[in-house]
Amino acid sequence: MASRRSFLKTALVTSSAAVISPVDLMAMIPRLGGSEMTPEWVLNARKQIPATRDRFFQTAGIAPSPTPVLDVVSKVLHYQNQGPVHPDIYPSVAATEPDLRTHFGALFGAHAHEIALTHSTSEGINIASWSRNWDKDDEVIISNQEHPANTIPWYNLATRFGVTVRRADLTTGTNLMDAVRAVASTRTKFVSIPHVSRNNGRRITDEESATLAAWLRERDIRFHLDGAQGPGCVPVDFRLLGCDYYSACGHKWLLGPKGTGAFFCHEDVLDRTEMSWTGSHSTLSYDQEGGYELIPEARRFEFGTRALATFAGFDAALSWMESIGMDRILKRVDELVTYAEESWQERGHTITSPIGEARSGVLVIRLPEPLTGWQVYESLRSEASSFTSPVDGPRDLRIAIHFINTRSEIDATFNAIESLL
Ligand SMILES: Cc1ncc(COP(=O)(O)O)c(C=O)c1O
Repeated sequence: MASRRSFLKTALVTSSAAVISPVDLMAMIPRLGGSEMTPEWVLNARKQIPATRDRFFQTAGIAPSPTPVLDVVSKVLHYQNQGPVHPDIYPSVAATEPDLRTHFGALFGAHAHEIALTHSTSEGINIASWSRNWDKDDEVIISNQEHPANTIPWYNLATRFGVTVRRADLTTGTNLMDAVRAVASTRTKFVSIPHVSRNNGRRITDEESATLAAWLRERDIRFHLDGAQGPGCVPVDFRLLGCDYYSACGHKWLLGPKGTGAFFCHEDVLDRTEMSWTGSHSTLSYDQEGGYELIPEARRFEFGTRALATFAGFDAALSWMESIGMDRILKRVDELVTYAEESWQERGHTITSPIGEARSGVLVIRLPEPLTGWQVYESLRSEASSFTSPVDGPRDLRIAIHFINTRSEIDATFNAIESLL
């Protein structure tokens, strides 16, 4: 199978015909590691992410990508465009997908054959939600802390097949097992909850997830985690989480190009996972008489012509993050969130998101009366160049803190909120 190395080799072979010289993708990614994460170092890293000239606390929405990542997308797109099906060009560009599956899987605890590349978290959630033949007596458990992406697909099943959707109470401080048991029944067929909630920032810990997974497996209930806010924000290891399925995206905490994602399907459940959408590239073979054989890997969920240059950018974003060090990134996120929690509490206010092990980079603060989330979000945006997000709770405000943020911009944002009182 072609690899990045062969991409380079091919690039040299075809360079005389090339309009744009093909590049070594990895060489385009500045190596940022090695130094202490001092404030100066962070500001230097931020120079590669133009949107962070503002106080950018919206990584949980859509994150900006580092410029070198976008450069990779552009270069690969131009390179591919010189001959999209040319035998010298196509195989090396097509190698982007196996490379990325391997890279993503290795970072988050999966085999490459358990990864399907998608264009969003929502695409993964839909693969999961359409993975069985639903019956009108079936029940699904989601939570009361969802993004619409993990709500609407299940409502759709309710409309199409009469499936009942129940909600576990994942308000900060509840016990996960108690919350699921309270709404589970002998009819429950599926549990789909956020690994990290976009709404109250609650992270399901590895231990909680593994305990729930074992309990569900004994009852033949399938378990999916919505991981839009997972990779790059909190530690993620699919094996430790124990879930059957996990839907992630590249365009939030991993700083990848918009329209990138990955779906994890545990190898043990692949053959019991029904496919609802399929097409060319999903099969090993097919004939004109109705016969076909699916690829025995999660990539059977991929089909059609795909955004290869964008996936190359996703791969580059992973490398950019790794050049800093995933562990260092997560450590800094945790330190900054802890700093922000303490600082907000010292000012006499409260935190909506969990404090302690269940915390994540998704910090949600409770605003003092009479402020509302929407009002503060608007004022910060227009008057303080500070970009935050309103969430479901009318008096809550989400401040998504990534490693590129600084203590001083947290202080400035809190000062700006207090000046509204
Ligand atoms: C928890 C959660 N799930 C799903 C989504 C949707 O993600 P995507 O746009 O990648 O489909 C989001 C987006 O904010 C989210 O926060």
